[in-house]
Amino acid sequence: MNELQGKNILIGVTGGIAAYKVVEVVSRLKKLGAEVRVIMTRAAAEFVAPRTFQEITKNPVAVEMFTGAINFHVEHIALANFADVVLIAPATANFLAKAAHGIADDLLTTTVLATPAPLLVAPSMNTLMLEHPATQKNLEILQSRGVKIIDAEIGLLACGTSGKGRLAEPENICAEIVKFFAPKILEGKKILVTAGGTQEPIDPVRFIGNRSSGKMGYEIAKAAQVHGAEVILISGNATVDAPKNLKFIKVETAEQMRAEVLAEFDSVDAVIMSAAVSDYRVKNVAAQKIKKDNETLTLELVKNPDILKELGQRKKNQLLVGFAAETQNVIEYAKNKIVEKNLDFIVANDVSKEGAGFAVDTNIASIITRAGEIENFTKMPKSELAEEIVLRVAERLSVCKK
Ligand code: PMT
Repeated sequence: MNELQGKNILIGVTGGIAAYKVVEVVSRLKKLGAEVRVIMTRAAAEFVAPRTFQEITKNPVAVEMFTGAINFHVEHIALANFADVVLIAPATANFLAKAAHGIADDLLTTTVLATPAPLLVAPSMNTLMLEHPATQKNLEILQSRGVKIIDAEIGLLACGTSGKGRLAEPENICAEIVKFFAPKILEGKKILVTAGGTQEPIDPVRFIGNRSSGKMGYEIAKAAQVHGAEVILISGNATVDAPKNLKFIKVETAEQMRAEVLAEFDSVDAVIMSAAVSDYRVKNVAAQKIKKDNETLTLELVKNPDILKELGQRKKNQLLVGFAAETQNVIEYAKNKIVEKNLDFIVANDVSKEGAGFAVDTNIASIITRAGEIENFTKMPKSELAEEIVLRVAERLSVCKK
């Protein structure tokens, strides 16, 4: 994929141990088609040799302000103008302080001050340095000027301690850059996505659940975000990390999911319901752990509310997208659900197929519209199916607007 073809990315590497991870960032950006130039601070060059970046980018790497090593007219201005976006990774506390206060005492900080391009900053440092009020204030100042902060992650740090301060993974940094360039076809739209599986308690320690990992729904939420939507993600149990920078609401049971969905419904433009909602719950949940005294145990189940059906009855202008998880007669059952739940379209997946449905990273799906048109997709990563779904939502929302 060449999502970054024709894009000029300037990367500023400052002096932290995580500088080595930026080698992978650059390599990934190149694979996505970007033209990449690198500026390193002198401290960064102590961690990774400029030559490494030079080899990957096939461009000279700038370190010094006045060496004239590179044939730029006025180097910092040339680099500042080259960039469609500037990424600083890793960004040290020292760099954040300088950038926040307009200090320009080396090639990188001078370029940052001179560039009209948007700035993305990925901090990395010891937890105490990151949490220091001075650093927090500097991040706040940068954010208030529109600088996008790619949050540091939690993990083992070079200083031997564990905590927040690890440079975001190269994959996540690149995803932020792709997101930055993606056409914002959902700008101004609010999308509610449900994901994961509900869990219905039996007693204080047991529940009825399902195998949903949340992967499908989380990818949909991320794709909607990439295209500029304001996203609300209401999630049952999931095995993957929640995406950042969206309204995330965690629930356990179908009834809790219903309450949260209904509370948001009037304010959204579209709902994509990929959650695996339990159709039944235990009628009388035991207050204490059930003892295994008997050979058999009978639980009486009662039907849960059908959230999507209720939305279908209440909907005004909202676009409604459902999922159908089936193991037989997939298309027929999915079509019935479109009518029964008053949907605009449905994503049907045969969850008995290998590489489809629950917990895996791929899916095999058909998108069926209300008018009966069917698009069949072969096995693809859930992230790609999510993109297909979101594009169809955007298409319909923009038609509605006209
Ligand atoms: O999370 P993953 O591991 O990535 O797995 C993805 C998935 C298999 C969960 C997903 O692709 C999927 O198929 N989700 C829908 C699961 C489901 O509950 O399907 P259903 O055919 O039983 O329900 C039809 C629709 O009604 C769904 O949109 C469902 O969210 C909704 N529903 C169902 C029951 C209920 N009580 N209320 C509902 O709103």
